[in-house]
Amino acid sequence: MTTIGIALLGVGTIGSAVWRTIVEERESLAQRTGFRLEVRWGLARHRERVVGVGLPAQAATTTIEPILEDPSVDVVVEVMGGEEPAATYIKDALEAGKHVVTANKEAVSKHLAELVATARRARRALLFEASVGAGIPLMVSLRQLLTVNRIERIRGIVNGTTNFILTAMAEEGIPYQEALREAQRLGYAEPDPTADVEGHDAAYKLSILASLAASRHIRPEAVVRRGITTITPDQILDARARGGAIKLIAHAEGSDGDWRLRVEPVFVPGSDLLAHVRRNLNAIELTGDRVGTIVLYGPGAGPTPTASAIVADVIDAVRFGDALLPSVAAAP
Ligand SMILES: NC(=O)c1ccc[n+]([C@@H]2O[C@H](COP(=O)([O-])OP(=O)(O)OC[C@H]3O[C@@H](n4cnc5c(N)ncnc54)[C@H](OP(=O)(O)O)[C@@H]3O)[C@@H](O)[C@H]2O)c1
Repeated sequence: MTTIGIALLGVGTIGSAVWRTIVEERESLAQRTGFRLEVRWGLARHRERVVGVGLPAQAATTTIEPILEDPSVDVVVEVMGGEEPAATYIKDALEAGKHVVTANKEAVSKHLAELVATARRARRALLFEASVGAGIPLMVSLRQLLTVNRIERIRGIVNGTTNFILTAMAEEGIPYQEALREAQRLGYAEPDPTADVEGHDAAYKLSILASLAASRHIRPEAVVRRGITTITPDQILDARARGGAIKLIAHAEGSDGDWRLRVEPVFVPGSDLLAHVRRNLNAIELTGDRVGTIVLYGPGAGPTPTASAIVADVIDAVRFGDALLPSVAAAP
């Protein structure tokens, strides 16, 4: 039995779910994989948050240094969110010889090429399955498809918050502001919903998927982006009357050096699977030149599915190391 020492950067919604998954599944994970997972550190802005999750007081830190210096930490799990200091901590951890697993779409989409290059130099794993689609195995699927296929198109619903709002507007006949308040009340939308409703979150996710498909870093600024804040009840009703729905669709299409990415609310006819994706669910179509179009569908957010992907990445990081690093050239 090999022990994997883990440091959690962040013990919020996702970090605490990762901790719970490790504690609750420790024995079955050990039996299934041969690895025993031990959380050595929890990093937060406030120490009491770490202790509140259930970690011992001596495992709490507000700075990264003790984690970087601890030889018993094999894998750093970054679940703080935001661009900085997360991106710097990821690089520091790789350079200190740790594998890194992250769920941070913003840091990954803005720094993908340099993070992969750092991991390659350090000969360490960098896995980010949970950054897009939470528990939906998108990175695993893309990796498998890309062995044989050229991916020509990625199209889907990658933001559960906006899909929940658009579904509520269509099915309950309520205006945008009321649907947003309902999403906030149920915990599907943040108090500041800008990143979701203006399409930034979807743009980060699309940029990650398209960068992997193109083997080249396509920055989130390259995504033509429009949010859902100006969608009116009339537009929603009109779409329903035509047998379809308005959906915030992330769409990337291209080949070789020429890729076009956009995130925008569009009419989706009833004959299209994506028209029937309700509430906070996600669905992503991947089109390869040999496999054709496949669709991955499921909960694209939430602590338990996200932690499932993160814990699986932790084990893959130790099993496969840098062998799973994608090929991603720097953006021109
Ligand atoms: N929520 C989801 O369903 C979901 C799904 C997929 C991916 N993700 C991604 O997972 C990541 C974490 O999301 P979350 O919902 O768990 O966030 P969260 O609840 O806000 O938790 C963030 C944690 O990081 C700590 N933190 C933030 N900035 C810090 C800093 N500068 N120094 C030290 N600690 C810092 C916070 O410390 P304090 O506790 O002391 O404030 C908190 O413990 C994000 O990248 C998010 O996009 C989330």
